[in-house]
Amino acid sequence: MDAASGLAAPRLAVSCPRARGGHRLGFLRSAPGASAPPAVQLRCCASTVDDGVVSAAAPKPRLPRVVGMGSKLIGCGSAIPSLSVSNDDLSKIVETSDEWIAARTGIRNRRVLSGNETLRELSVQAGKRALEMAQVNADDVDLVLLCTSTPDDLFGGAARVLAEVGCTNAFGFDITAACSGFILGLITATRFIKGGGIQNVLIIGADALSQFVDWTDRGTCILFGDAAGAVLVQACNADEDGLLGFCVQSDGNGQKHLNCPSSNINSILSKTNGVPSFPPKKGNFSYIEMNGKEVFRFAVRYVPQSIEKALEEAGLSASSIDWLLLHQANQRIIDAAASRLDIPSDKVISNLANYGNTSAASIPLALDEAVRAGKVKTGNVIAASGFGAGLTWGSAVVKWG
Ligand code: ACO
Repeated sequence: MDAASGLAAPRLAVSCPRARGGHRLGFLRSAPGASAPPAVQLRCCASTVDDGVVSAAAPKPRLPRVVGMGSKLIGCGSAIPSLSVSNDDLSKIVETSDEWIAARTGIRNRRVLSGNETLRELSVQAGKRALEMAQVNADDVDLVLLCTSTPDDLFGGAARVLAEVGCTNAFGFDITAACSGFILGLITATRFIKGGGIQNVLIIGADALSQFVDWTDRGTCILFGDAAGAVLVQACNADEDGLLGFCVQSDGNGQKHLNCPSSNINSILSKTNGVPSFPPKKGNFSYIEMNGKEVFRFAVRYVPQSIEKALEEAGLSASSIDWLLLHQANQRIIDAAASRLDIPSDKVISNLANYGNTSAASIPLALDEAVRAGKVKTGNVIAASGFGAGLTWGSAVVKWG
C-alpha cells in the first residue's frame, strides 16, 4: 500500500531473461507517484539485471547457507521383492558366471519385482516402517518425496504412495535423479524444513530398473535389482542439525555414458483422416544403455571429491566419520573411494552382494539394514554419496538420530 495515495502500489512480475523458460524472479513495486518506470536491480544467474538489460556475468559468489531449522534423521525402513535372482541363475540366461560377476562387481544376488508386486507397494511398506521406527503418525507427515526414475505412473507416484501410507495432511512429489535420487531427496527435505512450516518429511528412494534392463545384455543385466528404502527427517533446533554438510553436482555431457532413452514408436492408429503428420508417435522407453568403463572412471574420480567437499563444509575430516555409505553400484567403486579417502573397510557399509544396484533405493536400504543390525548408532556420523545417470552425483554428511 502506498502511504501517500492510499492506493495499492502497482506490482510487476518479472522473469530472468537468461533462464530458459523465463523463470519468475519476483514482484517489483513501482515508486509511488513516479512517472518513470521503476529503476530496479535484481540478481539472478550470477548476472545483474538492470532495468531489463543484462550486464556481463560476474563470477557466482558462494552464498552462505540460510540458517533456520535443523533436520534430524530419526527413522528408516525398507522393502524388497520376494524373487531372488542369483548369479548362477543369470549364467543360465547370458554367457557369464558367478566368479566373473562377483570378482568384477561384488554382487551375488538381486531382487526382482515379479507377479503382482509393484514398486508402489514396496515404497509404501518402506515408508510405513520408517514412520514406525521414528514413532511419527502418518498424519503428522507434511511432505513425502518419492525419489524414483521408475514410477508406476509417468506423471509421478508420490501422491498415490503418500495416500496409501496414510499421510492425509501431506503433499508430495517425485524426484528423478536415478542413483543420486535419494541424496537429492534428503537435501531437498532439509531445505524445506529450513524454510519453516514443515515438521516431518518422509523421503522414499525406490526403483525397479529390472523393467528397463535388457536381460540379454550381460554388460548390464548382472548389475541391477529392485527395492525401496525410506528415511523420516524431522525438524529440530539448528544446533542439533543432522545435515552437517553436502555437495551436489551434475554434468549432462556425461549423459551419453548412462541413460535409458525414450524411443517413440509408431502409433497404432491406422487412419489419419487427412490430418497431416497425424497420428503422433506413442511414447516408450528403450533399455538401459551404459558404457561401464566410463561410468566406473567417473565414479572413482568424482565421488571421493564430492565427499571431501561435503566433509569440508561439515568441518570434518574423513578420519572422523563413523561410516562411509556409498550408492551400492560396484564393490570395486566403493573400495576405491574408501581407499582414496583413507577410510578403513570396517567403517564401510556394503550390502550390494545381496541386492545389486537398486538405484535410488540403495542408500536407504543399506542404511536401514545397518541401523536395524545395531551397526549405525545414535549420534554416528555417516558420509553418504549417490552417483549415476544424468550424470548426477551428490554427497551428504549426516548424523544419525
Ligand atoms: N560376464 C562375463 N564376461 C563379461 C560380462 C559378464 N557379465 N560382461 C562383460 N564381459 C566381458 C566383456 O565382453 C569383455 O570381454 P573381452 O575382453 O573379451 O572384450 C570383458 O568381460 C571385460 O569387459 P568390461 O566391460 O571391460 O568389464 P569391466 O571390468 O569394465 O566391468 C562393469 C564391467 C562391471 C559393468 C564395470 O564397468 C562397472 O561396474 N562399471 C560401473 C557401472 C555402474 O556403476 N553403473 C551404475 C551407475 S548407477 C545408475 O545411475 C543407474
